[in-house]
Amino acid sequence: MSKDAYTLASEAAAALHAATGLDTFDVALVMGSGWVPAADAIGETVSEVPFTDLPGFRAPAVAGHGGKIRVVRTAAGRHALVFLGRTHLYEGLGVDAVVHGVRTAAAAGVRTLVLTNAAGGLRPETQNVGDPVLISDHINLTGANPITGTTFIDLTEVYSSRLRALVREVDPTLADGVYVAFRGPTYETPAEIRMLRTLGGDMVGMSTVLEAIAAREANLEVLGVSLVTNPGAGLAGEPLNHEEVLEVGRATAARMGVLLAQVVDKL
Ligand code: HPA
Repeated sequence: MSKDAYTLASEAAAALHAATGLDTFDVALVMGSGWVPAADAIGETVSEVPFTDLPGFRAPAVAGHGGKIRVVRTAAGRHALVFLGRTHLYEGLGVDAVVHGVRTAAAAGVRTLVLTNAAGGLRPETQNVGDPVLISDHINLTGANPITGTTFIDLTEVYSSRLRALVREVDPTLADGVYVAFRGPTYETPAEIRMLRTLGGDMVGMSTVLEAIAAREANLEVLGVSLVTNPGAGLAGEPLNHEEVLEVGRATAARMGVLLAQVVDKL
């Protein structure tokens, strides 16, 4: 932890309040690869703030990752901060940059955080392309942690069972699973995929875990949802590419958007 990272987040939150004229926000949603097209369904856009207008944010380096915060009013009149894009550890900007959006949301008054991502499926026996999976827990193999110092943070329930139960009221068919994160940007080798299955992982990706840890430090309630873009991940026998990951998102955006809209109004 550098104190500066938290100060920078408070400054970004103040800039967000000033840019939007809103005192507080109810929920924040981080839209991962493939999820950006789903953002339109969450509610009516009140305003949009480019990341580059806010202290500590950078324009995202990765295609399909937007680059702004959209303020949305939901059907029930809630205000949501929708992050169209995130910073990944593999971009090399450091762990504080990865969790800056989460710290900014927390400083802006958000109490609930929805983290979405695209993931490789480690259980092709039961997972199909385009399946949303609720994250029940994670294994952090990034080698990084957003928290430094001697404050020990409890992680026995990073992903709220209460929120997962709320989502299941909307869609009782959703599976849940353990998300494993590597730093990336390489996709996994077949041997790594076999290892992750043995370790108890169900999905693999390159995001989410560090943001979830920062969120728990700030006492936010966290919901995580993966979109399985490539069941079998590195075992599927076909090379992986990022465009494929985005395409699955486009194909399933309508379903994801409706799901998120209904969930947000149940919070
Ligand atoms: N591995 C890591 N990250 C990913 C994958 C994958 O197979 N698919 C989408 N993001």
